[in-house]
Amino acid sequence: MRHYLGLSEYHFRQKKQNLPQFYEPGRLINGHLLLAGMSGTGKSWQSMRWMESAAQAGLELDVFDVHDELDGIAGATACRYSQATGYGFNPLELDTDPHTGGVNRQVDYLLNLLKSVTRQLGSKQEACLRHLLQDTYAMSGIWPDNANSWQRDRINETQRRQMVEARQWSQLRQFYPTLDDLMSFGRRKLQVLVIGGDNKSVSALDQLQKAFRRLSGLQGRFARGGSDDEREKLQKQIEGAKTQCVGQYTEFVENMQSGRELDDVLKYDSVDVLTSAMQRLELLNAAGIFRANPPPFGDSKVRVHQLKSLTAEQQVMFVKLRLQAIFDRCKRAGATRSGTELRQVVFLDEGHKYFSKEPDDIINVIAKEARKFGLGLWCASQSPTEFPEAFLTNVGATALLGIHSRYWPDAQRMLRCSEDTLHYTKPKEVITVKFQREGQADPPWQNIIVPNPGNPAGVAAAGFR
Ligand SMILES: Nc1ncnc2c1ncn2[C@@H]1O[C@H](COP(=O)(O)OP(=O)(O)OP(=O)(O)O)[C@@H](O)[C@H]1O
Ligand SMILES: [Mg+2]
Repeated sequence: MRHYLGLSEYHFRQKKQNLPQFYEPGRLINGHLLLAGMSGTGKSWQSMRWMESAAQAGLELDVFDVHDELDGIAGATACRYSQATGYGFNPLELDTDPHTGGVNRQVDYLLNLLKSVTRQLGSKQEACLRHLLQDTYAMSGIWPDNANSWQRDRINETQRRQMVEARQWSQLRQFYPTLDDLMSFGRRKLQVLVIGGDNKSVSALDQLQKAFRRLSGLQGRFARGGSDDEREKLQKQIEGAKTQCVGQYTEFVENMQSGRELDDVLKYDSVDVLTSAMQRLELLNAAGIFRANPPPFGDSKVRVHQLKSLTAEQQVMFVKLRLQAIFDRCKRAGATRSGTELRQVVFLDEGHKYFSKEPDDIINVIAKEARKFGLGLWCASQSPTEFPEAFLTNVGATALLGIHSRYWPDAQRMLRCSEDTLHYTKPKEVITVKFQREGQADPPWQNIIVPNPGNPAGVAAAGFR
């Protein structure tokens, strides 16, 4: 692709020449891009044009739009995600690559994602969720150690509902399980723990755990001492609690049927842990974005995902799950011929908020490894200094649209630019770009006059196009 940026300011002012400047990712070390500027400096305006060039070049484009303002790109199809629209993607679909995909990887991925965006996922809840996920896959005949079982078809909510109503269980196994399957499986397990389902021994065991916790508490209090009276009272309570434990244990053993009753309890820990694990899933489900209801993009190559109605946490989870799927798809298509040409672009508005310090976070993986598969990561941001250094030093093109002088020292240090560079950047009139080319250790920053009907130089730049 080739995107017209404007005219070289140096040639325009010093030499009275019109020298057009282009963004050509194929000539850079990678197709990643950072567009940075404070509010009102034209990030959205520039981004739209940049993306229109990508669309015109026939690239696939996924735009993650947190302000619902980028749907005007020519030829784009937009989809709003909200509880009302109910569009979403099934997070249980698998990458089928035997080396990089599969059940365990997806389970780890989902758990890490949950951990990274929600507070305090305890180790017991995590273990419980892991078992729920693994068992839900197993119910569909999808096994961690058998890559042949990872291939299933995509199902949507309506299809699933119809098949469940018609009790077509064996046909359902042809499709990936969904969050609904996971939750109804979890609810069944919870039922078993609470009322024993059709098995009394399991509920007796849960009662035994409760009675034992009470006994331990009493013994702790006894050990801490107190008056003779208190200790005598505690001693009696301890005896009572012990008797209760023995009773529950007896009931557990007497009601055993399969001998495997303990398995479920060990896996799912306790009613409390399973309940709080289920609450996490409810949270995911409430967002709507993980319902098996793919948005109606059809075969549109330019897809605008409108995320304004979601919470910040939901936005991050949604984008990362999509990024993973997009990266998997690009990898399946194989390396590009030149190793630098672009096939697909992902545009992240407020891009800094998706980055983290974790090296295996999908966004860092894409920043590092996506070039050869033709995937470009384009980020617009008001806070360029909040990107990790690895991205800032590796990004193929950086465009500064105007940074507040308060952040100049940080920007100079992190973006390796001079104060002059920042000084000559004039919002909506002159942008400053750096193109990282092969074999060029520290390329210079260039000033470019951008098209703008509001000033004479801008008119010249617009006319040139
Ligand atoms: N080169 C330009 N020519 C004409 N108008 C422009 C140009 N660049 C930006 N504008 C206009 O300036 C206004 C602010 O630009 P824009 O909305 O792109 O800023 P922004 O950096 O995205 O701001 P925010 O961070 O608040 O979203 C808009 O009305 C936009 O149309
Ligand atoms: Mg904007």
